[in-house]
Amino acid sequence: MDWGMENRMARIIKPDTGRTVMLALDHGYFLGPTHRIEEPRKTIEPLLPYADTIMLTRGVLRTSVDPKSITNVVLRVSGGVSIIGPSLSDEGLTTSLKDAIRLNVAGIGISVFVGTDHERQTLLNLAELVNLGEDYGIPVLGITAVGKELEKRDARFLSLCCRICAELGTHIVKTYYCEDFEKVTNGCPAPIVIAGGPKLETEVDVLEMTYNAIEQGAVGVDMGRNIWQNDHPVAMIRAIRSVVHEGFKPKQAHELFKSIKAEQPKKVASV
Ligand code: R5P
Repeated sequence: MDWGMENRMARIIKPDTGRTVMLALDHGYFLGPTHRIEEPRKTIEPLLPYADTIMLTRGVLRTSVDPKSITNVVLRVSGGVSIIGPSLSDEGLTTSLKDAIRLNVAGIGISVFVGTDHERQTLLNLAELVNLGEDYGIPVLGITAVGKELEKRDARFLSLCCRICAELGTHIVKTYYCEDFEKVTNGCPAPIVIAGGPKLETEVDVLEMTYNAIEQGAVGVDMGRNIWQNDHPVAMIRAIRSVVHEGFKPKQAHELFKSIKAEQPKKVASV
């Protein structure tokens, strides 16, 4: 691996633990002002010190993140669709590599939609992005299965998606946790991070999902709603970190969550 690529990978996956807590904040690119991230700066600022990497679009990065903050960015560079449009899978590339480099990113992210009418288009978008990423030493995050694809959230489908991303040269693959998750990680030679998905009922559910994903071979999370839709997002991200980086069991991490929650006032971005 060339120096630039290796250095950027180390900015995403921490070399001391081999793991990562990525904070996903890109939801607005097709969902608009999603609950609790209506005003991105307010949501992002308190969480920044605890995220190894933030994942978002260039618009939110430029408007809502202080360029003097020490943070690593994985830039979403695909889009062009909306939740009310005819097809969520009809994505194209939205951001040039030149702009990504100008923004000093650690990586770039793109969705693929396997099993849809836009499978070929989105997989070729990914392959093209990997070509560009290799040219400039920028790792590519391949994001599998969003929107309706989640109806097929099982190991057979997700392992197919993840393996295809890896075969196309993706440096890190993002997918969802599912039953028999080892089948997904075992079949994917690239490192895998999990998204959190819609907000789960309890904090323990989120911590257990994170713990199980790590136990079954994930290198970390790229999580959004289950952190910033929690009434105590800082306590939540710190509890997630304890599982990912410090080997805390879900119960221990939940104790940590409760102790941080007790110290801090309820922090809600906007209600
Ligand atoms: C979805 O398209 C985005 O890539 C999100 O970043 C992803 O779903 C992770 O966020 P969450 O944990 O809220 O599912």
